Amino acid sequence: MPIAPYIYSTMNSRMSSVIRRMFEEGAILKKKYGEDAVFDFSIGNPDLEPPKGVVKAIEETAALRVTGSHGYMPNAGYPETRSAMAQKVGREQGAALAAQNVVMTAGAAAALTCVLKAILSPGDEVIVSAPFFPEYAHYAANHRGVLKPVSARPDFSLDIAAIGDALSEKTACVLINSPNNPSGKVYSQEDIIALAETLTAHGKKTGRLPYLVCDEPYRDIVYGGKKVAAVFPHYSAAAVVSSFAKNLSIPGERIGYIAANPAMSDRDDFIAACIFANRILGFVNAPAFFQRVVAASWDSPVDYSLYTERRNMLMAVLDKAGYEYAVPEGAFYLFVKVPAKKGFAQGLADDMGFCDHLKSHLALCAPGAGFGCPGWFRMAYCVSKKTIEHCGGALQKAREAWQ
Ligand SMILES: Cc1ncc(COP(=O)(O)O)c(C=O)c1O
Repeated sequence: MPIAPYIYSTMNSRMSSVIRRMFEEGAILKKKYGEDAVFDFSIGNPDLEPPKGVVKAIEETAALRVTGSHGYMPNAGYPETRSAMAQKVGREQGAALAAQNVVMTAGAAAALTCVLKAILSPGDEVIVSAPFFPEYAHYAANHRGVLKPVSARPDFSLDIAAIGDALSEKTACVLINSPNNPSGKVYSQEDIIALAETLTAHGKKTGRLPYLVCDEPYRDIVYGGKKVAAVFPHYSAAAVVSSFAKNLSIPGERIGYIAANPAMSDRDDFIAACIFANRILGFVNAPAFFQRVVAASWDSPVDYSLYTERRNMLMAVLDKAGYEYAVPEGAFYLFVKVPAKKGFAQGLADDMGFCDHLKSHLALCAPGAGFGCPGWFRMAYCVSKKTIEHCGGALQKAREAWQ
């Protein structure tokens, strides 16, 4: 009774889930050495509590006694929730969306996998800018697609010319993520427009206009007045996938959505295909309870100043400990350069080895190779202030012992 060879080899490969592996090893180290002795920067689990508006909506939803409110529903979700999401995305994208442009999903992960199921034929390519969220490779492979990473520019902005060179008749979509996990980069309006022009020209030349899928769970978490650019006004074949995992701190509740640009030429087919994918992938529909909760509370005010404070604190700690990093413009990750090691050029340094080395100093971080960007590692700073305050010594010792 063998396990499928692809699953067996992927689940046992060191790269298959660098983040989860660190997170799980962290739990073992915490048991052994105590919570306070371990500096766990491995996973992006928001440590802000959900805002008051969400807690109130949870209480009110729980108090409702409506017959049938726990039953099946249309696979796309409740009409009133789809309508609320249409309002939200319409506001963000500067476009008029109808409820029919939205499909509710079990988080951004399910939204991505439904979109890819809907658009990929075997061998089709999904172009991403590296570094990228590691699960993308699995989501594409689930539907016999192929992830095609294109390195970002040195400042982690989109390399539009390189993306243009990577396009082919096999390109089903370009998948972008702004603010980016792990680099914290927010893509500029100019780059979005340039990308849209490149894709449009490619569509004209080949007759296959790639979809542009924008993965935006961190849209609201930005620093220094940055704004995440709208895409819909610039590119018709665009869709947003997102969730409330990060901005409302409810990742365990698995609630997200897909929203298609109303101007997409095959919009109705695209939405119908996503609804069908939601069904046949076995999600059936997004969780009923949290569809009601987010319909009532998606607009709740949230104070993200805690993340700003932690970002600044961790940057100061890294400066003192002698590390180089990319200053995050959004999300809650710091992408840090692996320090130079004798005999290695910086950037070629072994990030897997360095993360193991950090682990021996009880600091848990995710190696850049897992994000398609060797020579770097990621620190998720949605952790306690105490962890950040006390990690400096371990980070410095680790750097010194590495050289
Ligand atoms: C870039 C990115 N996309 C998608 C997801 C998945 O989000 P969700 O928990 O809503 O499925 C994550 C989660 O960390 C992420 O970082």
